[in-house]
Amino acid sequence: MPRPLASRTADLRQSEIRSMTRRAVEMGGVNLSQGLCDLPTPGPVKEAACRAIRQDNNTYAPMNGLACLREKIAEKLKAFNGISADPETEITVTSGATGGYTCALLALLEAGDRVLVFEPFYGYHAGTLKILGFEPVALRLEPPDWSIDFARLEELLAGGVKALLLNTPANPMGKVFSGLEMEKIAGLCRKYDLWVITDEIYEYITFGGHRHLSIGALEGMAGRTVTVSGFSKTLAMTGWRLGYAAGPAAVIGKMALVSDLIYICAPRPLQAGVASALGELDPGYYDSLRRIYGSKRELLSRALEKFGFAPLPLEGTYFLLADYSERYGAVGSLEAANRLLDETGIASVPAASFYSGGADRTWLRFCFAKEDRELERAGQLLEQASLVKG
Ligand SMILES: Cc1ncc(COP(=O)(O)O)c(C=O)c1O
Repeated sequence: MPRPLASRTADLRQSEIRSMTRRAVEMGGVNLSQGLCDLPTPGPVKEAACRAIRQDNNTYAPMNGLACLREKIAEKLKAFNGISADPETEITVTSGATGGYTCALLALLEAGDRVLVFEPFYGYHAGTLKILGFEPVALRLEPPDWSIDFARLEELLAGGVKALLLNTPANPMGKVFSGLEMEKIAGLCRKYDLWVITDEIYEYITFGGHRHLSIGALEGMAGRTVTVSGFSKTLAMTGWRLGYAAGPAAVIGKMALVSDLIYICAPRPLQAGVASALGELDPGYYDSLRRIYGSKRELLSRALEKFGFAPLPLEGTYFLLADYSERYGAVGSLEAANRLLDETGIASVPAASFYSGGADRTWLRFCFAKEDRELERAGQLLEQASLVKG
């Protein structure tokens, strides 16, 4: 190689998630590692997108997205999140929530800026911060309630943090941040004059009476919050790459310009499809998501419990953390994930993927956004492995 590669890529590796996925596929097993939802996209959305393709709705979209989609997003933000956003200036369509998050970081932060993240975190959140030259500052939370040590949070925020990243419902914790927690976090962000970036991609997937709240809707927060969400999880379309962000016009305007530089636009016919179909979805669709995922969660929890794993309490998202120590002892989570894969053909994600500084826990994360028959097959594989072990 003529010259060394960019040092920012030095620590980048194929994540365990992808390699576990590959091995599960090779073994003919069940992939419960990646957060790709294999449920069908709702029929009206597919039809509308096909219509847009047939009508040759093919060109680049405006850099902030199709106006018809932004209008639909504004209606949803008002009705579901309690956020008033002008679709012309305060909403931008992005390349997935991931694109929205990346553009928010680039629009708000200077090189070297520090960002508070709650740990365990979604690996892409910390990974993106690092590759862009920003520094995650982690505040570790612990189960079962993942409660926040606010004195410690204040100490960290006072120590030169520029923004706070909130992910609720949180992957992989499964925590839905409560109103009281949000009020306190918001108070600290106002006190220390911080930006808040909030990733709410699992907003419709909550359980047991836990209700999703948006920090951007709290008093005094609209001017300092960028709310990121998208359609990947809600409409089962992780490969369509459609997300959005809402926030102050000055930030959203710059985010749209950044997005234009990096991605140009999210796929136009798919934007058109989602825009025209959102109004056609049965109003009960969102409640049915909670019901469907609630029953999938039960299916997987029961199978894991029988196998000797202990699921942690779960308030939202379609991921479940389970403690394996009863069955495998205090081995590291990567070893446990490999052992489970060898024993059963089931791929999971080791807890170590969600921590900084080499920290680890005796948990594996399982994705239950799968067809019931796949979850049942996972149950059978777990049962067979139990029998073999005797
Ligand atoms: C917390 C979180 N945010 C964002 C994403 C990705 O969202 P999108 O497909 O809209 O980029 C994921 C996917 O697993 C996620 O867990």
